[in-house]
Amino acid sequence: MHRYEARPDLLKDRVILVTGAGDGIGRAAALTFARHGATVLLLGRTTSKLEAVYDEIEAAGGAQPAILPVNLESSAYKDYQEVANAVENEFGRLDGLLHNAAILGMRSPLDHYDPDTWMKVMHVNVNAAFMLTKALIPMLRASEDASVIFTSSSVGRKGRAYWGAYAVSKFATEGLMQVMADEMDDPNYHVRVNSVNPGATRTNMRAKAYPAENPNNNAAPEAIMPVYLYLMGPDSVGVNGQAFDAQPKPAS
Ligand SMILES: NC(=O)c1ccc[n+]([C@@H]2O[C@H](COP(=O)([O-])OP(=O)(O)OC[C@H]3O[C@@H](n4cnc5c(N)ncnc54)[C@H](OP(=O)(O)O)[C@@H]3O)[C@@H](O)[C@H]2O)c1
Repeated sequence: MHRYEARPDLLKDRVILVTGAGDGIGRAAALTFARHGATVLLLGRTTSKLEAVYDEIEAAGGAQPAILPVNLESSAYKDYQEVANAVENEFGRLDGLLHNAAILGMRSPLDHYDPDTWMKVMHVNVNAAFMLTKALIPMLRASEDASVIFTSSSVGRKGRAYWGAYAVSKFATEGLMQVMADEMDDPNYHVRVNSVNPGATRTNMRAKAYPAENPNNNAAPEAIMPVYLYLMGPDSVGVNGQAFDAQPKPAS
């Protein structure tokens, strides 16, 4: 999967929503999906960053994207219903959903962990993803071939000291993925649901988590796109409920 080579028109005619599309891995995914033919819906909180991605897609000759300004920290379920209505009215379909946006919170032992930060991390990383998913499920079910990708982390598969709410939120993300995948395991639907652990990737979040490391030792977001393309496109039909790594595991 790490060497998957996507054909140029892999995602032609597909409408794909990416959360946190303005920066880091989400930005790379939005640009990559657009380059492979998708109409990309750019959801995020910093409109200027989303506009820059929008302009880059247009300049490259991609299908006209759309910007969905949503702050996952402060939005309520009715806001996600409005997002779903806007997508339905404007595009009439949804074939892909990449849950990518997340926050790190603090790196701290549990006895020092600030409860308000805990709530915020769980809200952005888990509750918001649930609400957006719930609002979009009818459109995903209506698609002839839909793919949902949740973004996990190594600390969402094995807990590690001082990763606090972030680690717990990623375990919950894996749980949400598994529950949804099981519900979609039905011949009437054509929705596959999987998770991806990006692995160490050169972004602002990684720099915040590991301020002392040399970022150049980490993969660029563009370098981890093969797994995302494989899962978003039709070559992964039938792959459901699985946890993927975007990078090969280092030899131990
Ligand atoms: N980088 C890594 O090494 C690594 C490793 C394992 C897992 N991950 C996971 O990969 C995903 C992407 O991470 P990244 O490294 O690309 O992080 P990043 O550079 O910090 O980007 C995160 C994106 O999420 C958006 N976001 C954060 N809070 C939001 C909110 N309240 N409402 C809307 N959007 C919000 C950010 O918007 P702004 O641009 O406005 O801040 C940004 O576009 C995350 O799920 C992360 O947990 C990353």
